Amino acid sequence: MMRRKTNIILMGFMGTGKSTVGRLVAKRLGKVFVDMDDVIEARAGKAISVIFEQQGEPHFRNLERALVQELAVQSDLVIATGGGVVLDARNMDDFSAGGIPICLLASPKVILQRVGAEIHRPLLEGDDKAEKILAILASRRALYESIPQQVDTTKLSAEQVADRVVEIFEEVSI
Ligand code: S3P
Repeated sequence: MMRRKTNIILMGFMGTGKSTVGRLVAKRLGKVFVDMDDVIEARAGKAISVIFEQQGEPHFRNLERALVQELAVQSDLVIATGGGVVLDARNMDDFSAGGIPICLLASPKVILQRVGAEIHRPLLEGDDKAEKILAILASRRALYESIPQQVDTTKLSAEQVADRVVEIFEEVSI
């Protein structure tokens, strides 16, 4: 029997609003909000940037993969994923079994404005953030584009994006 799809999984590049929007959507729908990066940091007892620095990106991806497996079998969650969750195709398959993945997009300019001043994103460390954003976006474009549900957040407030996410979920969940 097919599982009912009760989870909403927000995917997309850094700075597209996954955590802010996820919190709003969970509140509106009475679902439990989970921020994957926050869970990984709390369990490891250190920041993602420190995990990358001390143990390397592959170790972080293993922690991320294990958390996907744990969350994907639960129900009624709104999950804000890390931007790199799309790098492992198994993550998409697992999440799709019990929920609706929705990809949030934003223009590179808006992404830079949103993440520019922040220091906790290890993949964007250094002065040439704009170039790094463009390079990572280019390398992941096909992965983000392959997600059937998309919301362009460039010109929307977090509230407006949340409205759209709720609408999509209500349209496509069975
Ligand atoms: C990453 C995005 C980050 C975090 C880690 C790696 C990525 O999450 O998981 O720094 O590979 O795009 P956010 O998208 O929440 O910033």
